[in-house]
Amino acid sequence: MASSEPGARRGPSPELFREVFGRFATGVAVITAAGTTGSGGMTANALCSLSLDPLLTLVCFANSARTLPIVEETSRFAVNILSAEQRDVARLFASKAPESDKLAQVPHQLICGVPVISGVIAWAVCELRELLAGGDHTIAIGEVIELALGAGEPLLWFEGRYHQLPAP
Ligand SMILES: Cc1cc2nc3c(=O)[nH]c(=O)nc-3n(C[C@H](O)[C@H](O)[C@H](O)COP(=O)(O)O)c2cc1C
Repeated sequence: MASSEPGARRGPSPELFREVFGRFATGVAVITAAGTTGSGGMTANALCSLSLDPLLTLVCFANSARTLPIVEETSRFAVNILSAEQRDVARLFASKAPESDKLAQVPHQLICGVPVISGVIAWAVCELRELLAGGDHTIAIGEVIELALGAGEPLLWFEGRYHQLPAP
């Protein structure tokens, strides 16, 4: 049956896929990078710790993400884990505002040449080790070269909306 015929959908729908994985509550991070041709960042929740020996983390970039070529150029990126007070930062870095404008709007400092956003609850700077194809995304594996804790409660993402932990 040709895929254009009615009822010819192959497998589960992408909409249901989004809803199913939208129930996997996560924190919210901004992945930042700074290169000779520009700097920028993107809001991300498709990331996790990968290995303790060596210290590896992985981040999934949409192939259309403008942050990805910066990471490829510089071979470094930072994972900035946002606090509950940083919803505006999450919205800014989820936008398609001009890439260089994004970092210009938030206080940050360069650590190992990578922008680390002020006020985050934790951060890690990574050296890019591997890029793997993953459908319409690219999986970036980075080795952690510097990391630290900040203070505060996490910003959360669940069912397509931002949340925060209830007061204890
Ligand atoms: C909560 C949240 C999580 C997101 N997670 C990811 C992610 O893990 N990977 C990704 O490529 N895009 C993710 N996005 C979408 C990007 O933030 C968005 O496409 C952004 O505009 C990319 O910025 P850039 O093109 O400047 O790199 C997420 C958006 C939101 C709101």
